[in-house]
Amino acid sequence: MIAAYQASSQARVNAALETLFHAPSPELTRLYEAMRYSVMNGGKRVRPLLAYAACEALGGLPEQANGAACAVELIHAYSLVHDDLPAMDDDDLRRGQPTTHKAFDEACAILAGDGLQSLAFSALLDPRLSASDAETRLSMVSALALAAGPAGMVGGQAIDLGSVGLKLDQAALEYMHRHKTGALIEASVKLGALASGRAEKAELKSLQTYAQAIGLAFQVQDDILDVESDTQTLGKRQGADIARDKPTYPALLGLEAAKAYALELRDQALHALRPFDASAEPLRDLARYIVERRS
Ligand code: IPE
Ligand code: IPE
Ligand code: MG
Ligand code: MG
Ligand code: MG
Repeated sequence: MIAAYQASSQARVNAALETLFHAPSPELTRLYEAMRYSVMNGGKRVRPLLAYAACEALGGLPEQANGAACAVELIHAYSLVHDDLPAMDDDDLRRGQPTTHKAFDEACAILAGDGLQSLAFSALLDPRLSASDAETRLSMVSALALAAGPAGMVGGQAIDLGSVGLKLDQAALEYMHRHKTGALIEASVKLGALASGRAEKAELKSLQTYAQAIGLAFQVQDDILDVESDTQTLGKRQGADIARDKPTYPALLGLEAAKAYALELRDQALHALRPFDASAEPLRDLARYIVERRS
C-alpha cells in the first residue's frame, strides 16, 4: 500500500519539480544543471508524501498540495547539498551518486543550494503549482521560513556541527534533532494541511503532534541506519556518523534502545491521528514506514 502511494506521489511531485529547472539564459546553464542534479536524483520524497497525505487527511485532493510538496523538497535538497559540503559533513556520496560539490565544484554547490532555497518560496507562490488563496500562501510562506531558518533547520545544523565530539545528553540531542530534521517534517505536514483549504485549528493541532513525533523518529531512524545499513542500500556512506564522532541516538542510548524509542515515537504519532477517519490512512502508513525503512 505505501509502495503504491509512494510511487504515485513521487511521480506527481517529480513532474511538478521538473518544470522548475529551465535556465533563463545560457550563462546560467551550469547553475541550473547543478540545481537539477541535486533534486532530480531519486530521493525518497518523504516530505512531499507527507504534504500530500496531510492534504488528503483533511479531504483535499493531493494535487492541491503540489506547491507545498515542491517547496519542502527543494528546501530539503538545498539542506543536503550544504550538509555534504567539506565544511560540514564532508560527504562524497548522496542518493547513490557523487555529492553536488563533487559532481560540480564547491562554489557551484553553495550557489545551487542558495538557489534551491529561493526556488522553494517561489514554488509556494506559483499559481501553476497550486490555486491557494493569498492568505493561505502567506501562512505557508511564514511556516516554511520559520521551519527552514535559524529557529528551525539551520539552527539544528548549527548545533549539530557545534556538537561533534561532545557527549550530549538526551534532552540536548532531542533538541538538535527536532530542529535539524523535525522542523521541516512538521512544516511538510502543516503546508499540506493548509493546502487543503479546510484546516481547522483542532485538526492542525493533532497533525502537529503527529508530525513532531515522526519528525524526531525520522532522524532517530536515520541515525540507526548509519549504524546497521550498508552504503549500497543507503546511497550514502554507512558509518559516516561514527567516523566523525557525531552525536546520535545509537551513540547515546545504544542501538536497541534507539530502536525502541523510534517505535515509541511511531505509536505517539498514530495516537495523535485517532480523531481522523480512513482518509488519514496514508499518514498512518507513513508513520510506520519512517521507522521501518531500510534506506
Ligand atoms: C536525509 O533525508 C537527511 C535527514 C534529514 C535525515 P532523507 O532520508 O529524506 O533523504 P532522501 O531525500 O531520501 O535522499
Ligand atoms: C542532515 O542530517 C539534516 C539536514 C538538515 C540536512 P544528517 O547529516 O544526519 O543527514 P545525512 O545522514 O547526511 O543524510
Ligand atoms: Mg549533517
Ligand atoms: Mg550529513
Ligand atoms: Mg545522518
